[in-house]
Amino acid sequence: MLAGKRILLIIGGGIAAYKSLLLIRLLKSAGAAVTPVLTRAGAEFVTPLSVAALAGEKVHQALFDLTDEAEMGHIQLSRVADLLVVAPATADLMAKLATGRAEDLASNLLLATDTPVLMAPAMNVRMWQHPATQRNLATLTADGVRFVGPDQGEMACGEFGPGRMAEPEAIFAAITAALAEGPLQGRHVLVTSGPTHEPIDPVRYIANRSSGAQGTAIAAALRDLGARVTFVTGPATVPPPYGVTVVKVETARQMLEAVEAALPAAAAVMAAAVADWRVTNEGVQKMKKDGSGKAPALEFAENPDILATLSKGPQRPRLMVGFAAETEHVVDHATAKRARKGCDWIVANDVSPATDIMGGTENAVVLISDTGAEHWPRMAKDQVAKKLAQRIADALQNS
Ligand code: CTP
Repeated sequence: MLAGKRILLIIGGGIAAYKSLLLIRLLKSAGAAVTPVLTRAGAEFVTPLSVAALAGEKVHQALFDLTDEAEMGHIQLSRVADLLVVAPATADLMAKLATGRAEDLASNLLLATDTPVLMAPAMNVRMWQHPATQRNLATLTADGVRFVGPDQGEMACGEFGPGRMAEPEAIFAAITAALAEGPLQGRHVLVTSGPTHEPIDPVRYIANRSSGAQGTAIAAALRDLGARVTFVTGPATVPPPYGVTVVKVETARQMLEAVEAALPAAAAVMAAAVADWRVTNEGVQKMKKDGSGKAPALEFAENPDILATLSKGPQRPRLMVGFAAETEHVVDHATAKRARKGCDWIVANDVSPATDIMGGTENAVVLISDTGAEHWPRMAKDQVAKKLAQRIADALQNS
């Protein structure tokens, strides 16, 4: 799939740079050509010699390298690539691109091209969580930059949390996804997935049985058709797919915020099982028994409806797809839901325990659109996802 493709790989300064050597090997064995660029900080972690030996090509390091200027020019370097990959993407490299700075070779290359960019961030957990980095992440995502990782785990600096660079195999999969040629190439599609958790106090929450399996499969299927997918997920049990931009949230309100931040999009598939209610008298401390035997009274407020908000909002994606989890009168309830929420399609399913659909591996859905109800046979959730993704591609192509 990568044969004949050229990847311009910018290796930033971070201990994770050693993983980029493995990434070069994966890319080369898949038939891709790699143009390596090493930042000054990157060269503190891996040597130009190892990078050049693995890539089988000269390593570019300096902005004002006269030979390069005569032969090709630093601007040309990024234009001949099919994809620019930054791995590790440091907080500094993210900040440079987010603010449009061009002060070294790497930042010049990133700015001087409209070739798609994929970043694999790697940094200390506090640096990753810093509002400045998160702001830059939001800006870059809105600009169309794709992200893979960071992963959560123990870090070289001894701390624990998100910030570890994605594994080479995951970056490789994200590269394959970014270069996938399909009917959704160049389209941005938003997918929500999983349950939401609504806190009662610092240790307890209200949740539901959604595993995130259907939403995850849909995101993967859209990715395979070439879409750039932003995957906003609640705390699901199924891991998110490779090759999509993952935004993890807990509550319905966080999910709405993340979804709105990811707009614009050509289509949105809202597969999340969003909690309808949140607790308004959430305990700041763990709620204790007072010995009286009296149960605490929880008070609730209705959560925002993400599907309806987007469907009726100023930045409405062209195609809005909702789900309907019903336990009776599936078609009637789902048809009413479609009208109430203002979406184009509703994928309805019967989630009564006897169907084993919620949390299971299969689904039997009814697609409700303006042309009526179409019953799909029971099939694996992956198959439902593929069929739905193809329908979405057809609909966007015809509109
Ligand atoms: N949904 C949403 N925001 C909410 C609730 C639901 O975006 N606060 C979305 C879901 O992601 C799904 C669709 O709306 O795409 C329908 O969800 P469902 O739980 O079936 O419907 P509800 O709106 O909760 O309606 P009801 O509880 O009456 O069945």
